[in-house]
Amino acid sequence: MSTSATVQFSDVVRAFGRGGHTAVDGVSLLVDETSRVGVVGESGSGKSTLVRMLVGLDHPSAGTVEFNGRSIAAMLPDELRAFRLAVQLVAQDTTSSFDPRRTLRDAVRRPLEVLRGMDVAAADGAVDATLRGLGLDPQLANRLPHQVSGGQRQRFAIARALVVRPRLLVCDEAVSALDVSVQGAVLNLVKRYCREHGAGLVFVSHGLPATAFVADRLVVMHRGRVVEDGPREQVLFRPEHAYTRTLVDAHRRTGDRRGSVPA
Ligand SMILES: Nc1ncnc2c1ncn2[C@@H]1O[C@H](COP(=O)(O)OP(=O)(O)O)[C@@H](O)[C@H]1O
Ligand SMILES: [Mg+2]
Repeated sequence: MSTSATVQFSDVVRAFGRGGHTAVDGVSLLVDETSRVGVVGESGSGKSTLVRMLVGLDHPSAGTVEFNGRSIAAMLPDELRAFRLAVQLVAQDTTSSFDPRRTLRDAVRRPLEVLRGMDVAAADGAVDATLRGLGLDPQLANRLPHQVSGGQRQRFAIARALVVRPRLLVCDEAVSALDVSVQGAVLNLVKRYCREHGAGLVFVSHGLPATAFVADRLVVMHRGRVVEDGPREQVLFRPEHAYTRTLVDAHRRTGDRRGSVPA
């Protein structure tokens, strides 16, 4: 399958409340199925707000976010379904993103039922294949979310996103809560999916090592703005913005001891 999945941000602003905080402040950005983008910035810089607009969970106060040329905010139900099949999110907090009373199998199966209209039997085959691809024993899926480890639950969250075979995978702090020892394995799975399916990746994290490990393009956010957007080597070794230099220097000082991900 080679349908394109292009998301274009044009002068996007997202402000909260009357005269409130501007979480995203004039961002223009293009990502598609060929992208391997890492979005990095300190906590509160607007990354999750950007992600929520990228996947259609929130909309700009000004400017537009378009998927294949159509404003996501203006999409009709059929267009939204096609968009959700193409662009999938692995959210920040797996504890709250799973229903505690439903099995993990129910959770991973659900996108196939809702978006593809598959029945349980057909969907279960696809669920098992996706779980195996992520190194998860399908038997584990009969458990409830709190009955597996944090690392396993994160893989189920990734499985729930990948089960519909998206063209663009968006990960918001997808490994930040995991031990460094398992981060590398999860990142490798994400990279492999994108390589094998020709899918794009938008990987968002406050941590530079994980971001630089999966991305070949780095976008740096600072106070709601994109202050740098370029090839990874250029951003890491010839940053243009003072804030990027601060980020890279901080990583050089501490990165070897904590949060460092094997290359
Ligand atoms: N729903 C909301 N209502 C009010 N303020 C918000 C809301 N969501 C995010 N913010 C604010 O926007 C800023 C950016 O938040 P966020 O996008 O979560 O940053 P990051 O993911 O980089 O940590 C923060 O100051 C946050 O408090
Ligand atoms: Mg965030």
